[in-house]
Amino acid sequence: MKYGHFDDSAREYVIENPKTPVKWINYVGSLRFGGFVDHTGGLLLCKGDPALNRITKYIPQLPASQLKGHTLYLRLRTAQGLRTIAPFFVPTLTALDHYECRVGLGYSRFVSEVAGVRTVITLFVPTGSEVLIEDVCVTNVSGAELELDAIPLVEYTHFDALKQFTNADWVPQTMQSVVHDAQGGRKILAQFAFMNRDLRQNYLTATLPASSFETCRARFLGDNEYGTYADPLSLKQPELGNYQALRGDNVGALLLPLGKLAPGQSKRFRVLLTQQEGARTESLARAKAAFAAFESDEQTDAALASMRRYWDDYLGKLQVKTPSAALDSMVNVHNPRQCFMTKNWSRDLSLYQLGFGGRGIGFRDSSQDVMGVLASMPGEAKELLEKLLSVQKPDGSAMHQFYASTMEANEGDSREHSDRPDYYGDDQLWIVLAVCAYLKETGDLAFLKHELPFYDKRKPLAEREKGSVLEHLKRAVEFTRKDVGKHGLPLLGFADWNDTVNLKRGAESLFVANLYGKALLELIELFGQLGDESQVQRYKRDYEQMRARVNEHAWDGEWYVRYFDHDGSAIGTHKNAQGKIWTNGQSWPVISGFASSERAHKALESVQRHLSTKNGIKLSAPGFDGYDPNKGGVTTYPPGAKENGGIFLHANPWVMIAETLVGNGDRAFQYYMQINPAAKNELMDEYELEPYVYAQNILGDEHAQFGLGRNSWLSGTASWCYQAATKHILGVRPSYAGLEVDPCIPKAWDGFELTRVFRGSTYKIKVKNPSHVSRGVKSLLVDGKAISGHTVPVFEDGKTHEVELTLGNVEATAHPHSSPAHAAPAARPTRLEA
Ligand code: GLC
Repeated sequence: MKYGHFDDSAREYVIENPKTPVKWINYVGSLRFGGFVDHTGGLLLCKGDPALNRITKYIPQLPASQLKGHTLYLRLRTAQGLRTIAPFFVPTLTALDHYECRVGLGYSRFVSEVAGVRTVITLFVPTGSEVLIEDVCVTNVSGAELELDAIPLVEYTHFDALKQFTNADWVPQTMQSVVHDAQGGRKILAQFAFMNRDLRQNYLTATLPASSFETCRARFLGDNEYGTYADPLSLKQPELGNYQALRGDNVGALLLPLGKLAPGQSKRFRVLLTQQEGARTESLARAKAAFAAFESDEQTDAALASMRRYWDDYLGKLQVKTPSAALDSMVNVHNPRQCFMTKNWSRDLSLYQLGFGGRGIGFRDSSQDVMGVLASMPGEAKELLEKLLSVQKPDGSAMHQFYASTMEANEGDSREHSDRPDYYGDDQLWIVLAVCAYLKETGDLAFLKHELPFYDKRKPLAEREKGSVLEHLKRAVEFTRKDVGKHGLPLLGFADWNDTVNLKRGAESLFVANLYGKALLELIELFGQLGDESQVQRYKRDYEQMRARVNEHAWDGEWYVRYFDHDGSAIGTHKNAQGKIWTNGQSWPVISGFASSERAHKALESVQRHLSTKNGIKLSAPGFDGYDPNKGGVTTYPPGAKENGGIFLHANPWVMIAETLVGNGDRAFQYYMQINPAAKNELMDEYELEPYVYAQNILGDEHAQFGLGRNSWLSGTASWCYQAATKHILGVRPSYAGLEVDPCIPKAWDGFELTRVFRGSTYKIKVKNPSHVSRGVKSLLVDGKAISGHTVPVFEDGKTHEVELTLGNVEATAHPHSSPAHAAPAARPTRLEA
């Protein structure tokens, strides 16, 4: 069974059946003003902070048939009486003669036909704007004259999103709505919680006259709310009640008479929703000005066209043409688009991550998300890096998360367990990878001198210690160098990347050890670039020391162990009955270069043998069967779910990358395709989720519902799959000296093409694979001239350069990423001025 198809030429996914297994969503706007819209018109909208300034009431836990925050009703005035229909299908559930929801870049377009009415609705927030536009075009396709009304409706939430659900006394006493008359019989409905009346208000209007309105949910539904959204009793009356709510559950509904439409005749109008700051008259004036920008069809079309141009430019930084359509769909459109969203929303707001304030911007998560957007939005990436570095503590470790609106940071879930450490072993190391990736993309080494504060919640910002970005990076690795346990391996903290393994104080993490190794490799390369040989030598020693410890203590014979518990016992050894082998325990020693070639191959073979399934690689096996507070959150899930032996997708691209590092392009690509959502389009009754974005998890083969995906959109899978595909499988990655081109592809491929904008120049890359190998650069022509190695120089000339690379068998050389050879001082040292 499938529910839709990819329309790559329009860069849309087209949902053709409204009864998808779960809601499929799309994002509109940004963290500044935006949220998501589901495929039946449900809308979750916020301004600035989903926890503290939420606008519409979207309750994901309600059944799919229920109204969620927003809809549009149409009403036919017939000789037999009034008939209400819903072009979004929800909430009237009237069977539609045609339905499609086009999930586009920044907009969702709904096309439906019911009762002789064709409706096209485009929902979007124009780039940089704070207005949600619902652009509606209604056409009479019945063959006879029709008389119609349109009734847009939003249901508001209290601005404090969690209070809305935990308080049923204060909240309803504060919610109020007021109507304002505007020119030509139009109405603007204002809504606010009383304490915000003179600070900011929500405004709803339409570009047509309204004959009546309603703002009280009870009155809209009727009969003490025994009327329903599926069949509101107020819509059985000629007009709405014109009631300005003084309390209670507030809605905004406008009755817009569309009049008589002749056969074939259309009527186009807009419903507009915004929130504006200021005292009442001031904010109303602002709302009117904001609405005026989308008054005409032309203005609206221009706003949509400008958003398209934004995306043309964004996606234009990297485009590919390979033998795999499913890879092309993801890499050219949907994967970078998802990276944009994870960069924007971190893990704050999705259908699964509810934005009530528990999460905010994650230090670890956002450091990884940044790496997925560097080519397209380096400026915004840098801003986020600065914020992240500002919540690093003076000792080099980091706060686990922060709230973008206040820059207030906290220790995440570790706060709930006073008997466990209050920091995470890995957080601070991710920022090293992120900053170095930013430097390689942009060449902006001056960033390293930028002074930023260290976080100390006891001190006001002005009094906090400051240090250069380079100093922040040094303290990050220094923290881990010193924070080691019995085996000399880094302590786990409350958790490492795997949030759910929470061992007693004193436990050590092999993941942190390897991430530390990778961070050191990055710094060795960076300091080489800066010409600081003594720092290079120092980090090389630290690297060798940790590499020796890992190999001395953690090799289990066929694979590496994953943790040492507080008492020194290994977790992730063949001697364990459960949690015998862990994926991250194997991919990361390859990425860090700590594993010898022999151990790398063995460890990756073990992943293949014990952890890989047709739906992706499991995080560990076998799952823990029963709750064990000594292990922590991982044992709250049944075996096969989430981090407990589930297919945790974020960890899959690390195996793909590791496979490319050992030269196994076939297997890297096989793993890529195992989790590619575009390749699951025909398997929806099993998988259930949006085929156009990566999910966080798929149930593993220990679970009866093996193959079922959950938690789509906000997952590190987006950034890492994008990196795995583009930088490692297709092998085009920025470096200090230029653009490296070193693919590791399936042997069967004849080649591929890739266009990459890098430091202002366009690199048109053509890779040929006549001898059907996976890796090995036989020759490289740049603008027709042969060059040695695989690094195409930096041009910074705004021009287009033709790159032609032929793969073939070459003498085995140490791969740059799999050994500290990678760390050799760079050819062209760029000194950082003191
Ligand atoms: C979630 C968290 C992420 C963590 C992962 C594995 O995706 O957001 O930080 O690394 O789970 O536990």
